[in-house]
Amino acid sequence: MSVFQFPDGFLWGAATSAHQVEGNNVHSDWWAWEQAGRVKDRSGPACDHYRRFEQDFDLAASLGHSAHRFSVEWARLEPAEGQWDDEALAHYAAVVRALRKRRLEPIVTLHHFTNPQWFLAKGGWTVPGSVEAFARYVRRVAAALGDQVRYWVTINEPIIYARMHYLQGLGPPGAKDLSQAIRVLEHLIRGHAAGYHVLHAARRMEWPRPEVSIAHHLPVFRPCRRWSPFDQWITRRTDQIFSVAFLEALTDGRWEVPGIGARRIPEARNTLDYLGVNYYGRQFIRWVPVPGLWPGVPCDLGHHPREVPERTSMGWDVHPESFFEALRRLGRTGQPILVTENGTSMTDDARRWSYLWRHIAAMGRAVQAGANVIGYCCWSLLDNFEWADGYGPRFGIVEMDYATQERRPRESARQYAEVCRTNRVMTE
Ligand code: FCB
Repeated sequence: MSVFQFPDGFLWGAATSAHQVEGNNVHSDWWAWEQAGRVKDRSGPACDHYRRFEQDFDLAASLGHSAHRFSVEWARLEPAEGQWDDEALAHYAAVVRALRKRRLEPIVTLHHFTNPQWFLAKGGWTVPGSVEAFARYVRRVAAALGDQVRYWVTINEPIIYARMHYLQGLGPPGAKDLSQAIRVLEHLIRGHAAGYHVLHAARRMEWPRPEVSIAHHLPVFRPCRRWSPFDQWITRRTDQIFSVAFLEALTDGRWEVPGIGARRIPEARNTLDYLGVNYYGRQFIRWVPVPGLWPGVPCDLGHHPREVPERTSMGWDVHPESFFEALRRLGRTGQPILVTENGTSMTDDARRWSYLWRHIAAMGRAVQAGANVIGYCCWSLLDNFEWADGYGPRFGIVEMDYATQERRPRESARQYAEVCRTNRVMTE
Protein backbone atom coordinates (compact mmCIF):
# COMPACT_ATOMS: atom_id res chain seq x y z
CA MET A 1 0.00 0.00 0.00
CA SER A 2 1.14 3.52 -0.68
CA VAL A 3 -0.51 6.88 -0.25
CA PHE A 4 -1.35 9.20 -3.10
CA GLN A 5 -1.68 12.87 -2.30
CA PHE A 6 -3.92 14.84 -4.67
CA PRO A 7 -2.88 18.29 -5.85
CA ASP A 8 -3.78 21.24 -3.62
CA GLY A 9 -7.19 22.70 -4.33
CA PHE A 10 -8.55 19.40 -5.69
CA LEU A 11 -12.37 19.53 -5.55
CA TRP A 12 -14.18 16.77 -3.67
CA GLY A 13 -17.93 16.47 -3.62
CA ALA A 14 -21.06 14.67 -4.67
CA ALA A 15 -23.55 15.16 -7.49
CA THR A 16 -27.33 15.20 -7.76
CA SER A 17 -29.79 16.30 -10.43
CA ALA A 18 -32.96 18.33 -9.97
CA HIS A 19 -35.58 15.82 -11.05
CA GLN A 20 -33.98 12.99 -9.11
CA VAL A 21 -33.95 14.73 -5.73
CA GLU A 22 -36.05 17.91 -5.65
CA GLY A 23 -39.56 16.48 -5.75
CA ASN A 24 -42.75 17.65 -7.47
CA ASN A 25 -41.13 18.70 -10.69
CA VAL A 26 -44.61 18.94 -12.18
CA HIS A 27 -43.87 20.87 -15.38
CA SER A 28 -41.19 18.54 -16.68
CA ASP A 29 -41.59 15.93 -19.40
CA TRP A 30 -40.39 13.20 -17.06
CA TRP A 31 -43.17 14.05 -14.60
CA ALA A 32 -45.79 13.67 -17.36
CA TRP A 33 -44.16 10.40 -18.45
CA GLU A 34 -44.41 9.05 -14.90
CA GLN A 35 -48.02 10.18 -14.50
CA ALA A 36 -48.84 8.36 -17.73
CA GLY A 37 -47.63 5.17 -16.05
CA ARG A 38 -44.67 4.66 -18.39
CA VAL A 39 -42.31 3.75 -15.52
CA LYS A 40 -42.71 1.64 -12.44
CA ASP A 41 -42.30 4.43 -9.88
CA ARG A 42 -43.36 8.05 -9.84
CA SER A 43 -40.81 10.54 -8.59
CA GLY A 44 -43.41 12.33 -6.39
CA PRO A 45 -41.79 14.22 -3.51
CA ALA A 46 -38.41 12.50 -4.14
CA CYS A 47 -35.97 13.70 -1.44
CA ASP A 48 -37.84 17.00 -1.03
CA HIS A 49 -34.47 18.58 -1.71
CA TYR A 50 -36.13 21.66 -3.20
CA ARG A 51 -37.11 22.62 0.34
CA ARG A 52 -34.39 20.83 2.30
CA PHE A 53 -31.31 21.96 0.38
CA GLU A 54 -29.83 23.83 3.35
CA GLN A 55 -29.95 20.69 5.47
CA ASP A 56 -28.43 18.64 2.65
CA PHE A 57 -25.60 21.11 2.17
CA ASP A 58 -24.92 21.08 5.94
CA LEU A 59 -24.54 17.35 5.57
CA ALA A 60 -22.21 17.62 2.56
CA ALA A 61 -20.07 20.19 4.38
CA SER A 62 -19.96 18.03 7.51
CA LEU A 63 -18.73 15.18 5.32
CA GLY A 64 -15.70 17.19 4.27
CA HIS A 65 -16.88 18.06 0.75
CA SER A 66 -15.49 21.12 -0.97
CA ALA A 67 -17.73 21.08 -4.07
CA HIS A 68 -21.26 20.13 -5.02
CA ARG A 69 -22.78 19.41 -8.40
CA PHE A 70 -26.51 19.99 -8.89
CA SER A 71 -28.81 20.90 -11.76
CA VAL A 72 -31.12 23.83 -12.37
CA GLU A 73 -34.55 22.73 -13.60
CA TRP A 74 -35.58 24.44 -16.80
CA ALA A 75 -39.20 23.29 -16.37
CA ARG A 76 -39.42 25.24 -13.11
CA LEU A 77 -37.91 28.38 -14.58
CA GLU A 78 -40.00 28.38 -17.73
CA PRO A 79 -43.12 26.32 -16.95
CA ALA A 80 -44.87 27.65 -20.06
CA GLU A 81 -43.10 28.94 -23.14
CA GLY A 82 -41.91 32.49 -22.56
CA GLN A 83 -43.31 32.62 -19.01
CA TRP A 84 -40.54 32.90 -16.50
CA ASP A 85 -40.92 32.08 -12.85
CA ASP A 86 -38.83 34.60 -10.94
CA GLU A 87 -39.34 32.80 -7.66
CA ALA A 88 -37.75 29.66 -9.08
CA LEU A 89 -34.84 31.73 -10.35
CA ALA A 90 -34.44 33.33 -6.91
CA HIS A 91 -34.55 29.84 -5.44
CA TYR A 92 -31.51 28.70 -7.42
CA ALA A 93 -29.66 31.90 -6.55
CA ALA A 94 -30.32 31.01 -2.89
CA VAL A 95 -29.07 27.47 -3.53
CA VAL A 96 -25.79 28.79 -4.91
CA ARG A 97 -25.41 31.22 -2.00
CA ALA A 98 -26.07 28.37 0.45
CA LEU A 99 -23.26 26.40 -1.17
CA ARG A 100 -20.83 29.32 -1.13
CA LYS A 101 -21.66 30.02 2.50
CA ARG A 102 -20.49 26.50 3.32
CA ARG A 103 -17.42 26.74 1.11
CA LEU A 104 -18.80 24.25 -1.36
CA GLU A 105 -17.79 25.10 -4.93
CA PRO A 106 -20.98 25.00 -7.03
CA ILE A 107 -20.89 22.96 -10.23
CA VAL A 108 -24.07 23.84 -12.08
CA THR A 109 -25.70 21.59 -14.69
CA LEU A 110 -28.19 23.28 -17.00
CA HIS A 111 -29.78 20.22 -18.58
CA HIS A 112 -29.92 16.85 -16.86
CA PHE A 113 -32.29 14.62 -18.89
CA THR A 114 -35.46 16.68 -18.28
CA ASN A 115 -37.24 19.31 -20.38
CA PRO A 116 -40.28 21.50 -19.87
CA GLN A 117 -43.40 19.74 -21.19
CA TRP A 118 -44.09 22.53 -23.70
CA PHE A 119 -40.59 22.07 -25.12
CA LEU A 120 -41.11 18.37 -25.75
CA ALA A 121 -44.54 19.07 -27.25
CA LYS A 122 -42.82 21.32 -29.80
CA GLY A 123 -40.52 18.50 -30.87
CA GLY A 124 -37.92 18.62 -28.09
CA TRP A 125 -34.33 18.26 -29.24
CA THR A 126 -35.32 16.83 -32.61
CA VAL A 127 -36.10 20.30 -34.00
CA PRO A 128 -33.73 23.21 -34.71
CA GLY A 129 -35.80 25.62 -32.54
CA SER A 130 -34.61 23.67 -29.50
CA VAL A 131 -31.22 25.37 -29.66
CA GLU A 132 -32.51 28.94 -29.40
CA ALA A 133 -35.04 27.96 -26.70
CA PHE A 134 -32.22 26.46 -24.63
CA ALA A 135 -30.01 29.50 -25.22
CA ARG A 136 -32.79 31.79 -23.92
CA TYR A 137 -33.03 29.71 -20.77
CA VAL A 138 -29.26 29.72 -20.26
CA ARG A 139 -29.24 33.51 -20.64
CA ARG A 140 -31.65 33.81 -17.69
CA VAL A 141 -29.63 31.44 -15.54
CA ALA A 142 -26.34 33.12 -16.41
CA ALA A 143 -27.72 36.54 -15.44
CA ALA A 144 -28.98 35.19 -12.10
CA LEU A 145 -26.09 32.91 -11.08
CA GLY A 146 -23.09 34.03 -13.11
CA ASP A 147 -21.64 36.20 -10.34
CA GLN A 148 -21.32 33.13 -8.08
CA VAL A 149 -20.58 30.23 -10.42
CA ARG A 150 -17.37 29.20 -12.09
CA TYR A 151 -18.04 25.59 -13.17
CA TRP A 152 -20.87 24.89 -15.60
CA VAL A 153 -22.12 21.72 -17.26
CA THR A 154 -24.38 22.58 -20.19
CA ILE A 155 -25.75 19.12 -21.00
CA ASN A 156 -25.49 15.98 -18.93
CA GLU A 157 -24.54 12.89 -20.97
CA PRO A 158 -25.86 13.96 -24.37
CA ILE A 159 -25.27 10.50 -25.78
CA ILE A 160 -27.04 8.68 -22.98
CA TYR A 161 -29.88 11.20 -23.24
CA ALA A 162 -30.28 10.48 -26.96
CA ARG A 163 -29.93 6.73 -26.48
CA MET A 164 -32.28 6.42 -23.53
CA HIS A 165 -35.03 8.71 -24.86
CA TYR A 166 -34.76 8.20 -28.63
CA LEU A 167 -33.34 4.71 -29.16
CA GLN A 168 -34.33 2.63 -26.18
CA GLY A 169 -37.65 4.39 -25.57
CA LEU A 170 -36.97 4.44 -21.83
CA GLY A 171 -37.84 8.08 -21.25
CA PRO A 172 -40.01 10.75 -22.90
CA PRO A 173 -40.95 10.75 -25.74
CA GLY A 174 -40.21 7.01 -25.76
CA ALA A 175 -38.93 6.93 -29.34
CA LYS A 176 -36.96 4.09 -30.88
CA ASP A 177 -35.67 5.74 -34.00
CA LEU A 178 -32.07 6.12 -35.09
CA SER A 179 -32.62 9.10 -37.36
CA GLN A 180 -34.34 11.03 -34.57
CA ALA A 181 -31.53 10.12 -32.17
CA ILE A 182 -28.94 11.45 -34.62
CA ARG A 183 -30.89 14.70 -35.04
CA VAL A 184 -31.09 15.02 -31.25
CA LEU A 185 -27.33 14.59 -30.97
CA GLU A 186 -26.70 17.32 -33.50
CA HIS A 187 -29.02 19.71 -31.69
CA LEU A 188 -27.41 18.87 -28.37
CA ILE A 189 -24.03 19.78 -29.86
CA ARG A 190 -25.51 23.06 -31.09
CA GLY A 191 -27.31 23.57 -27.78
CA HIS A 192 -24.09 23.07 -25.86
CA ALA A 193 -22.29 25.50 -28.17
CA ALA A 194 -25.03 28.10 -27.75
CA GLY A 195 -24.92 27.65 -23.97
CA TYR A 196 -21.15 27.96 -23.99
CA HIS A 197 -21.23 31.26 -25.89
CA VAL A 198 -24.08 32.65 -23.80
CA LEU A 199 -22.23 31.91 -20.54
CA HIS A 200 -19.06 33.56 -21.77
CA ALA A 201 -20.85 36.56 -23.26
CA ALA A 202 -22.87 37.12 -20.07
CA ARG A 203 -19.79 37.38 -17.91
CA ARG A 204 -19.09 40.70 -16.25
CA MET A 205 -15.58 41.73 -15.29
CA GLU A 206 -15.97 41.03 -11.58
CA TRP A 207 -17.55 37.56 -12.09
CA PRO A 208 -15.54 34.34 -12.06
CA ARG A 209 -14.38 33.28 -15.51
CA PRO A 210 -16.86 30.59 -16.55
CA GLU A 211 -15.44 27.10 -17.11
CA VAL A 212 -17.88 25.27 -19.33
CA SER A 213 -18.18 21.63 -20.42
CA ILE A 214 -20.66 18.86 -20.95
CA ALA A 215 -20.72 15.85 -18.62
CA HIS A 216 -19.52 13.21 -21.02
CA HIS A 217 -20.41 9.61 -20.31
CA LEU A 218 -17.17 7.82 -21.03
CA PRO A 219 -17.38 4.09 -20.73
CA VAL A 220 -14.66 1.85 -22.06
CA PHE A 221 -16.34 -0.13 -24.84
CA ARG A 222 -15.56 -3.81 -25.29
CA PRO A 223 -17.01 -6.40 -27.71
CA CYS A 224 -19.54 -8.77 -26.20
CA ARG A 225 -18.13 -11.78 -27.96
CA ARG A 226 -14.42 -11.21 -28.15
CA TRP A 227 -14.06 -13.71 -30.99
CA SER A 228 -16.73 -12.09 -33.20
CA PRO A 229 -15.42 -9.74 -35.93
CA PHE A 230 -18.89 -8.14 -36.10
CA ASP A 231 -18.86 -7.31 -32.41
CA GLN A 232 -15.30 -6.05 -32.64
CA TRP A 233 -16.17 -3.82 -35.58
CA ILE A 234 -19.32 -2.33 -34.12
CA THR A 235 -17.53 -1.77 -30.82
CA ARG A 236 -14.82 0.24 -32.57
CA ARG A 237 -17.50 2.25 -34.37
CA THR A 238 -19.47 2.86 -31.20
CA ASP A 239 -16.32 4.07 -29.48
CA GLN A 240 -15.49 6.22 -32.50
CA ILE A 241 -18.84 8.02 -32.37
CA PHE A 242 -19.53 8.16 -28.69
CA SER A 243 -16.09 8.69 -27.24
CA VAL A 244 -14.17 10.32 -30.05
CA ALA A 245 -16.43 12.02 -32.63
CA PHE A 246 -18.71 13.69 -30.11
CA LEU A 247 -15.81 15.34 -28.31
CA GLU A 248 -14.21 16.19 -31.64
CA ALA A 249 -17.33 18.09 -32.62
CA LEU A 250 -16.80 20.26 -29.52
CA THR A 251 -13.14 20.83 -30.26
CA ASP A 252 -12.85 20.90 -34.08
CA GLY A 253 -16.42 21.83 -34.98
CA ARG A 254 -16.74 18.76 -37.21
CA TRP A 255 -19.39 16.17 -36.39
CA GLU A 256 -19.02 12.90 -38.19
CA VAL A 257 -21.21 9.85 -37.79
CA PRO A 258 -19.43 7.03 -39.66
CA GLY A 259 -21.69 5.51 -42.28
CA ILE A 260 -24.13 8.41 -42.02
CA GLY A 261 -22.26 11.58 -42.83
CA ALA A 262 -20.24 14.54 -41.65
CA ARG A 263 -21.22 18.10 -40.95
CA ARG A 264 -19.45 21.26 -39.94
CA ILE A 265 -20.74 22.96 -36.80
CA PRO A 266 -18.38 25.92 -36.60
CA GLU A 267 -19.98 27.44 -33.52
CA ALA A 268 -19.08 24.30 -31.57
CA ARG A 269 -15.33 24.70 -32.11
CA ASN A 270 -13.29 25.03 -28.92
CA THR A 271 -16.30 24.99 -26.62
CA LEU A 272 -14.83 22.84 -23.87
CA ASP A 273 -12.98 24.73 -21.14
CA TYR A 274 -12.50 21.47 -19.25
CA LEU A 275 -13.69 17.90 -19.74
CA GLY A 276 -16.54 16.79 -17.51
CA VAL A 277 -16.56 13.00 -17.30
CA ASN A 278 -19.06 10.51 -15.92
CA TYR A 279 -17.71 7.00 -15.52
CA TYR A 280 -19.47 3.90 -14.18
CA GLY A 281 -18.00 0.82 -15.86
CA ARG A 282 -17.20 -0.91 -19.14
CA GLN A 283 -19.88 -1.35 -21.73
CA PHE A 284 -20.04 -4.51 -23.79
CA ILE A 285 -21.37 -4.10 -27.31
CA ARG A 286 -22.98 -6.66 -29.59
CA TRP A 287 -23.74 -6.46 -33.29
CA VAL A 288 -27.52 -6.60 -33.87
CA PRO A 289 -28.52 -5.62 -37.39
CA VAL A 290 -32.02 -4.24 -36.73
CA PRO A 291 -33.03 -1.84 -39.52
CA GLY A 292 -33.45 1.70 -38.25
CA LEU A 293 -31.51 1.01 -35.07
CA TRP A 294 -27.88 1.69 -34.30
CA PRO A 295 -26.53 -1.84 -34.79
CA GLY A 296 -24.36 -1.80 -31.68
CA VAL A 297 -26.47 -2.54 -28.63
CA PRO A 298 -25.27 -3.14 -25.10
CA CYS A 299 -25.18 -6.89 -24.62
CA ASP A 300 -26.56 -8.90 -21.81
CA LEU A 301 -23.64 -9.12 -19.45
CA GLY A 302 -24.62 -12.72 -18.80
CA HIS A 303 -22.58 -13.61 -21.89
CA HIS A 304 -19.44 -12.73 -20.01
CA PRO A 305 -19.14 -14.66 -16.83
CA ARG A 306 -15.39 -14.63 -16.95
CA GLU A 307 -14.83 -11.17 -18.28
CA VAL A 308 -17.21 -9.50 -15.86
CA PRO A 309 -16.41 -11.03 -12.52
CA GLU A 310 -17.84 -8.12 -10.57
CA ARG A 311 -21.11 -6.25 -11.05
CA THR A 312 -23.24 -3.77 -9.17
CA SER A 313 -26.72 -4.57 -7.84
CA MET A 314 -28.03 -3.24 -11.17
CA GLY A 315 -25.78 -5.62 -13.11
CA TRP A 316 -23.35 -2.91 -14.21
CA ASP A 317 -19.73 -3.86 -14.75
CA VAL A 318 -17.20 -2.85 -12.08
CA HIS A 319 -13.73 -2.23 -13.48
CA PRO A 320 -11.61 0.52 -11.89
CA GLU A 321 -8.74 -0.23 -14.26
CA SER A 322 -10.89 1.02 -17.15
CA PHE A 323 -11.51 4.27 -15.25
CA PHE A 324 -7.75 4.71 -15.10
CA GLU A 325 -7.56 3.99 -18.83
CA ALA A 326 -10.37 6.42 -19.67
CA LEU A 327 -8.78 9.21 -17.62
CA ARG A 328 -5.37 8.58 -19.11
CA ARG A 329 -6.81 8.64 -22.60
CA LEU A 330 -8.54 11.96 -21.95
CA GLY A 331 -5.51 13.24 -20.12
CA ARG A 332 -3.55 13.13 -23.35
CA THR A 333 -5.62 16.05 -24.63
CA GLY A 334 -3.90 18.13 -21.93
CA GLN A 335 -7.23 19.59 -20.83
CA PRO A 336 -8.32 19.75 -17.20
CA ILE A 337 -10.69 16.90 -16.33
CA LEU A 338 -13.46 17.11 -13.77
CA VAL A 339 -15.07 13.81 -12.79
CA THR A 340 -18.69 14.89 -12.69
CA GLU A 341 -20.07 11.45 -11.71
CA ASN A 342 -18.78 8.11 -10.49
CA GLY A 343 -20.57 5.78 -8.12
CA THR A 344 -22.56 2.64 -7.62
CA SER A 345 -25.89 1.26 -6.52
CA MET A 346 -24.54 -1.55 -4.32
CA THR A 347 -27.05 -2.74 -1.77
CA ASP A 348 -24.15 -3.63 0.52
CA ASP A 349 -22.55 -0.38 1.63
CA ALA A 350 -19.15 -2.01 2.23
CA ARG A 351 -19.13 -2.89 -1.45
CA ARG A 352 -20.09 0.71 -2.28
CA TRP A 353 -17.07 1.97 -0.40
CA SER A 354 -14.85 -0.66 -2.01
CA TYR A 355 -16.08 0.58 -5.43
CA LEU A 356 -15.53 4.25 -4.60
CA TRP A 357 -12.16 3.67 -2.99
CA ARG A 358 -10.80 1.63 -5.91
CA HIS A 359 -12.03 4.21 -8.42
CA ILE A 360 -10.55 7.09 -6.46
CA ALA A 361 -7.27 5.17 -6.26
CA ALA A 362 -7.40 4.55 -10.04
CA MET A 363 -7.96 8.29 -10.51
CA GLY A 364 -4.92 8.94 -8.30
CA ARG A 365 -2.84 6.71 -10.55
CA ALA A 366 -4.12 8.56 -13.61
CA VAL A 367 -3.07 11.87 -12.02
CA GLN A 368 0.33 10.35 -11.29
CA ALA A 369 0.53 9.30 -14.93
CA GLY A 370 -0.05 12.90 -16.01
CA ALA A 371 -3.82 13.40 -16.33
CA ASN A 372 -4.81 16.85 -15.11
CA VAL A 373 -7.81 15.86 -12.99
CA ILE A 374 -9.08 18.81 -10.94
CA GLY A 375 -11.96 17.29 -9.02
CA TYR A 376 -14.27 14.38 -8.33
CA CYS A 377 -18.01 14.20 -7.62
CA CYS A 378 -19.38 10.91 -6.46
CA TRP A 379 -22.85 9.93 -7.59
CA SER A 380 -24.72 10.57 -5.45
CA LEU A 381 -25.08 12.53 -2.25
CA LEU A 382 -28.50 10.99 -1.55
CA ASP A 383 -30.37 7.90 -2.70
CA ASN A 384 -32.68 9.20 -5.39
CA PHE A 385 -35.09 8.59 -8.27
CA GLU A 386 -33.16 6.54 -10.82
CA TRP A 387 -35.23 7.27 -13.96
CA ALA A 388 -36.80 4.12 -15.46
CA ASP A 389 -35.45 2.10 -12.52
CA GLY A 390 -37.34 4.24 -10.04
CA TYR A 391 -36.53 4.11 -6.35
CA GLY A 392 -35.01 0.60 -6.37
CA PRO A 393 -31.32 1.45 -6.89
CA ARG A 394 -29.54 3.12 -4.00
CA PHE A 395 -26.70 5.29 -5.24
CA GLY A 396 -26.43 7.57 -2.18
CA ILE A 397 -23.57 7.78 0.24
CA VAL A 398 -26.40 9.10 2.40
CA GLU A 399 -29.32 6.74 2.84
CA MET A 400 -32.82 8.11 2.32
CA ASP A 401 -35.80 6.95 4.29
CA TYR A 402 -38.43 8.07 1.80
CA ALA A 403 -41.30 7.58 4.25
CA THR A 404 -39.89 10.00 6.82
CA GLN A 405 -37.47 12.02 4.64
CA GLU A 406 -34.78 11.14 7.12
CA ARG A 407 -31.17 11.23 5.88
CA ARG A 408 -28.64 8.78 7.31
CA PRO A 409 -25.02 9.02 6.23
CA ARG A 410 -23.68 5.58 5.42
CA GLU A 411 -20.28 4.28 6.44
CA SER A 412 -19.15 4.94 2.83
CA ALA A 413 -19.92 8.64 3.38
CA ARG A 414 -17.63 8.65 6.42
CA GLN A 415 -14.85 6.83 4.59
CA TYR A 416 -15.17 9.21 1.66
CA ALA A 417 -15.08 12.15 4.10
CA GLU A 418 -11.64 10.99 5.17
CA VAL A 419 -10.41 11.19 1.57
CA CYS A 420 -12.00 14.64 1.14
CA ARG A 421 -10.46 15.99 4.35
CA THR A 422 -6.97 14.58 3.87
CA ASN A 423 -6.91 15.03 0.06
CA ARG A 424 -5.29 11.64 -0.26
CA VAL A 425 -6.04 8.01 -0.87
CA MET A 426 -4.34 4.70 -0.19
CA THR A 427 -3.47 3.04 -3.45
CA GLU A 428 -2.93 -0.67 -3.93
C1 FCB B 1 -25.98 8.72 -15.00
C2 FCB B 1 -26.94 9.88 -14.89
C3 FCB B 1 -27.44 10.11 -13.48
C4 FCB B 1 -27.73 8.82 -12.77
C5 FCB B 1 -26.55 7.89 -12.87
C6 FCB B 1 -26.71 6.60 -12.12
O1 FCB B 1 -25.99 8.22 -16.31
O2 FCB B 1 -26.32 11.07 -15.32
O3 FCB B 1 -28.57 10.94 -13.55
O4 FCB B 1 -28.88 8.27 -13.27
O5 FCB B 1 -26.28 7.62 -14.22
